[in-house]
Amino acid sequence: MASSEAGVEPAARLRGDLVLPGDKSISHRALMLALLAGGETRIAGAGDGADVRSTAGIVRALGAAVTRSPGRAGNVDYVVNSPGATAIHQPATGLDCGNSGTTMRLFAGILAGLPVEATLDGDASLRGRPMGRVIDPLRAMGADVDGSGSDGARAPLRIAGRSRLSAMVYATPMPSAQVKSAVLLAGLAAEGTTQVRESIRTRDHTERMLRARAVTVRSARSEAGANAVEIDGPATVGAVDQDVPGDPSAAAFWLVAGAIHAQAELRLRGVGVNPTRHAIIDLLRQMGASIDEEGAPDDGVGEPIADLVVRSSSLRSIEVQPAETAAAIDEIPALCLAATQAQGRTLIRGAGELRHKESDRIAGIVEGLSRLGARIAADGDDIVIDGPTALRGTSVDSFDDHRLALTFAIAGLIATGSTTIRGADSVAISYPTFFADLERIRS
Ligand code: S3P
Repeated sequence: MASSEAGVEPAARLRGDLVLPGDKSISHRALMLALLAGGETRIAGAGDGADVRSTAGIVRALGAAVTRSPGRAGNVDYVVNSPGATAIHQPATGLDCGNSGTTMRLFAGILAGLPVEATLDGDASLRGRPMGRVIDPLRAMGADVDGSGSDGARAPLRIAGRSRLSAMVYATPMPSAQVKSAVLLAGLAAEGTTQVRESIRTRDHTERMLRARAVTVRSARSEAGANAVEIDGPATVGAVDQDVPGDPSAAAFWLVAGAIHAQAELRLRGVGVNPTRHAIIDLLRQMGASIDEEGAPDDGVGEPIADLVVRSSSLRSIEVQPAETAAAIDEIPALCLAATQAQGRTLIRGAGELRHKESDRIAGIVEGLSRLGARIAADGDDIVIDGPTALRGTSVDSFDDHRLALTFAIAGLIATGSTTIRGADSVAISYPTFFADLERIRS
């Protein structure tokens, strides 16, 4: 992505209502499951970030007709007409996952059990990210998957799909919904029961969405006390329309903005409040943030939503345990910003997975917030922040990482002077309307 700059000036007030991008995790899965289901699926309010577009492009390359039309608040409504899992097309060219780890890892699981040969590739950031975490379990299920790079565990991934895989019991070595999902999706093509165990619970959208599509997915507890999820294969995915809730990971930036700004009241409409995505709300509340959750009806396919109202708050430090860090993994950069305004020392434990995201997010957040005047340091896999500190605007680098760019833009709203974000275009990975939303609610 070409490096672009954006400037953010401090805001006198933050006021208004926002409808957020459709949840990225759910948008990806809705498109992928529409491909597997066959027939027609309607998806309303999908996020229109570059990552979800990458997934839609691959669904098309595999033989589905995908039409898009404008949805609510800059989101997209998709209609997918698919020939179904067993009739997907041999792709003519390599499949481009762009910047999206979810696209690459979940499609690796899907393609491992389908009768096509495919190559999954991505941008420089994605080519640098670890893929051994999906290659290893998929091979153990009998998949023919090869990675690249000196360790053979990077993209591009070459997959010669098989129509039958072997079921297995797999304990994920790191907390990762992407790894869990890749194995479960491969389990659709396996003979017998595939079980995934995780010692730290991760987001459960794949499980919920498969269940809603008539696949039997059981929750269990393994002898070791880990959460376990089981799927019986081979299984067929049904076609179910999906209304995509607002993305709680996008909401997190506004929850932090509202809490740390002295004159703020923001209402975020229709946000997903799935319990496995709720940790950021719980953690900010523990810090003293005023966040009200006003219930709205369930979307009907198992993903709860609510309106969130956040008001200016006085924050105190907290200690975040590894399981909470994993549950709020995408929101940790925003949480670090909140901690710079909290009284006392905030300790975020077990954040090592952040080093394997679109950039090394521990290095990037420490560098950027330090430049803005925060007292923040990495201590191994932990992050330590002493607050409160006044932030002063300067130039900061997002390393083309959307979640860092978004965090620094929010910091600019409370910093003195101007904040310039390098690589600000990266916000379009998950939140293309961010700067327009910022202008709408600031004065
Ligand atoms: C995601 C899982 C998480 C998260 C990513 C989306 C998903 O990644 O960081 O933004 O949709 O399953 P990991 O599973 O690699 O932690």
